[in-house]
Amino acid sequence: MPLIPLSLARHLAPGLKPLRALAERAWLREAEVDFFLAALHPLLRLNRVFARLEARQWVADDMLALTFRVNGNARGWRPGQHVQLHQTLDGVRLGRSYSLTAVHGDGRVELAIKRQPGGRLSNRLVDFLEIGTLVEMGQADGELHWPQEAAGVLLLAAGSGITPVLGMLREALAQGFTAPVTLLHYVRQRGQRAFADELQALARRYPNFTVRWSISGEAPVADELTGRFQVDHVRHSVASDLLACGPHGFVSLVRQWWQAEPRQGSVQLEAFSAAPVNTAEPARQVRLGFARARSEMQGDSRYNLLEQAEAHGLRPAHGCRQGVCTACTCQLVSGTVRDLRTGALFAEPGQPIRLCVSAPHSDLVIDL
Ligand code: FES
Repeated sequence: MPLIPLSLARHLAPGLKPLRALAERAWLREAEVDFFLAALHPLLRLNRVFARLEARQWVADDMLALTFRVNGNARGWRPGQHVQLHQTLDGVRLGRSYSLTAVHGDGRVELAIKRQPGGRLSNRLVDFLEIGTLVEMGQADGELHWPQEAAGVLLLAAGSGITPVLGMLREALAQGFTAPVTLLHYVRQRGQRAFADELQALARRYPNFTVRWSISGEAPVADELTGRFQVDHVRHSVASDLLACGPHGFVSLVRQWWQAEPRQGSVQLEAFSAAPVNTAEPARQVRLGFARARSEMQGDSRYNLLEQAEAHGLRPAHGCRQGVCTACTCQLVSGTVRDLRTGALFAEPGQPIRLCVSAPHSDLVIDL
């Protein structure tokens, strides 16, 4: 039984600043302070974000929306960003990234989890996470943001790519964004149209918002589109700005279409699956140096640095393994890396790189 209510625990969080300063200077041990704080309320911590599950709601055949109440340590979170959610399964601590679909002023945050074939943590959370369960989260991260100055916004989402898009859309409409907004959501089956009822309600409420679905695995009905993303679906779009989120292949197609002609507006693309290895590309041997581990290995220019470091016996921090959460970020010391999502090359010493979506383009050394 907590000694203080959660509302008071949340109010206490800003007042812990002096203790944080002492812990930062190593005059206090954070773990010991956390031990006493947790005795007051199980969510209370000096810096770490803990949350309690308050509601579960199915929003598609394979997607569950979850509402958590977080302690007072969630700093500057906004819809469209993603957070790491941690749970220990069978003695192993696992973490996965999920997008925030809503951030409320009273400490409630919402996210949605899609059931995944073989998704160890996601499926366990979907099936077994009970109301009242406490979970640990990382701080929110992510650059996606609503293009406030846009003359019109095109939103393209595939599968669970709908979650960051919905978060930003909800907020923008509620805050009075009046330029035209069109959302196309790509799913295999009609039952996967996550948040369909809410999106249709938004379209009725806000005349500047239109939503359509494209179904690739069933015959279309009414005004549904059919198949995967194709230029015909967006040929007549007059939007100035684009936001797209989905698996790597989907985002690549969208990028090709958008870049095929010069445009003035902004484009934001987020892929939540790793780029597949290009097996057609000839294997090129490179030297990989790990500065802090003081070791080297023979590397392959086709594969990401996270997998190669792990194969070498290192244990780099990581989360999503998809280039989204930034948990695997480390610094380039020398050499050139290639971003597997875009093909862009980076050779600036000190450049932060995400190991899970970066491949060596030359001999290189990273700060690992
Ligand atoms: S593990 Fe998430 S960005 Fe690399």
